[in-house]
Amino acid sequence: MLEKTLDDVNLKKSQVEVFGLGYVGFPLAVRLANGGFTVSGIDVNPERLSRLENNNLNETELNIKKEFLHVRNENLLTFLEKPNKYENSKIAFICVHTPIATEDVDSDTYVKNAIEQFLETSKKGDVIIIESSIGGGTTEKMQKIIQDFGYNVGKDFGLCFCPERIDPQNKKWNLENIPRIIYCSDDTTFRIIQKLYQPINHAHLHRVSSPKIAEVVKSYENAFRLVNISLVNELGILCERLGIDVKEVINAAKTKPFGFMPFYPSAGAGGHCIPKDPRFLSHAATQNNLKFSTIENALQINLDIPKHICNKIEENLENNNMEKSVLVCGLSYKPDVGDMRDSPGFKILKELKKRKFKVGGYDPYFNPKLIEKYLTENFLKELEFEKVEKLTDEEISEFSCVCLVQNHSIDKFRINEIYEKSKIKMIYDCLGKIEFKTESKTILKTFGKN
Ligand SMILES: NC(=O)c1ccc[n+]([C@@H]2O[C@H](COP(=O)([O-])OP(=O)(O)OC[C@H]3O[C@@H](n4cnc5c(N)ncnc54)[C@H](O)[C@@H]3O)[C@@H](O)[C@H]2O)c1
Repeated sequence: MLEKTLDDVNLKKSQVEVFGLGYVGFPLAVRLANGGFTVSGIDVNPERLSRLENNNLNETELNIKKEFLHVRNENLLTFLEKPNKYENSKIAFICVHTPIATEDVDSDTYVKNAIEQFLETSKKGDVIIIESSIGGGTTEKMQKIIQDFGYNVGKDFGLCFCPERIDPQNKKWNLENIPRIIYCSDDTTFRIIQKLYQPINHAHLHRVSSPKIAEVVKSYENAFRLVNISLVNELGILCERLGIDVKEVINAAKTKPFGFMPFYPSAGAGGHCIPKDPRFLSHAATQNNLKFSTIENALQINLDIPKHICNKIEENLENNNMEKSVLVCGLSYKPDVGDMRDSPGFKILKELKKRKFKVGGYDPYFNPKLIEKYLTENFLKELEFEKVEKLTDEEISEFSCVCLVQNHSIDKFRINEIYEKSKIKMIYDCLGKIEFKTESKTILKTFGKN
């Protein structure tokens, strides 16, 4: 059965179904279709489907617009609410979100739903590839579900876990050149997968021997980043007390050609990966009567950094007899992306609001229609703040201080101008991106420095 699928894939006759057309699934679907596969992009969000149907991309997706329009014109990429039955073999890529578990949903709820939907329309010889980041034991749990549908995984049905490693807007490392790790249920499925990942990353795949290894690798990679981000941020707090510049420390330390990797201070890690995936490891530790203290501490530090930043802002405003009004610039979790999930900017807004500050929020990617979504994604029921549309002189004059959380490329010039032309009384730079200028009358405070 799987041998027949291998023939289909070689002839590009298999139907590919990508579940979840978000940050991970959408570019993947475009790339597979560009590789000549017939792809159905499936999503449960009707608004997303209708926008894509109308070739309407988000600002941060415009970099693949040409490829997208090409595959749309060639009829290689269509959009559906649900999977279909096909005569030829089907391949499912599961790219749905895997949130932190709550009372209502487990982290794997959406993965399970998508897999069950696929199984309703599948047959022997079909293959499922999970790309979502999942906790330990999830692949085996999904294997059991597939077997309950009457298939023999590894014999007449293929199952893989190939976690996505994409770093959105990274100019050097992208979908095409990032090597991937993969668990495959059997050798034939691996040969199928090698063909499918040819147009994705030239099939640069490192096969591991068990699903648990692949699951732990993914969480460990992100735990490595979380721990180092928390480490450098805590070092930043110490450097402030010592009256030295943490950036000078890092830049000196990175002259060591081995055993050191530089991380830079920020208002903390956000997004749907770094503060989330390490929890899979600490959860696994708890289940095995262990405590993963490094991760637990790093998560706590990550939560504390926005509070530290608010303390510094409050202290500086008080010392300078300034009104407690702050414009938080950069609400997404990293520069040049529109993803607002679990973002330090929202944590700072919330904390300042709690302290009765007048607060404004600005982000060039902020879409006022999505405010409810942003609140949910930041675990907030409500948050009243003034939404600033543009960094005009008039808008910023309402505030004593700009807190720079993310320095989006399209705002860099304006932020520097605000500082150089002394358009505001104070700037608190969480990233250390603004260069001190003696001629500016704006008080510049930098996390990890003063
Ligand atoms: N965003 C990143 O940079 C990144 C990087 C590496 C790994 N990941 C992982 O990849 C996974 C997806 O993340 P994302 O950022 O693309 O999420 P996302 O929220 O941007 O997209 C998920 C999409 O899945 C859809 N969906 C939910 N249930 C569905 C179902 N049953 N069928 C079809 N569609 C369904 C949602 O409507 C949404 O559009 C997560 O596990 C994440 O941790 C994300």
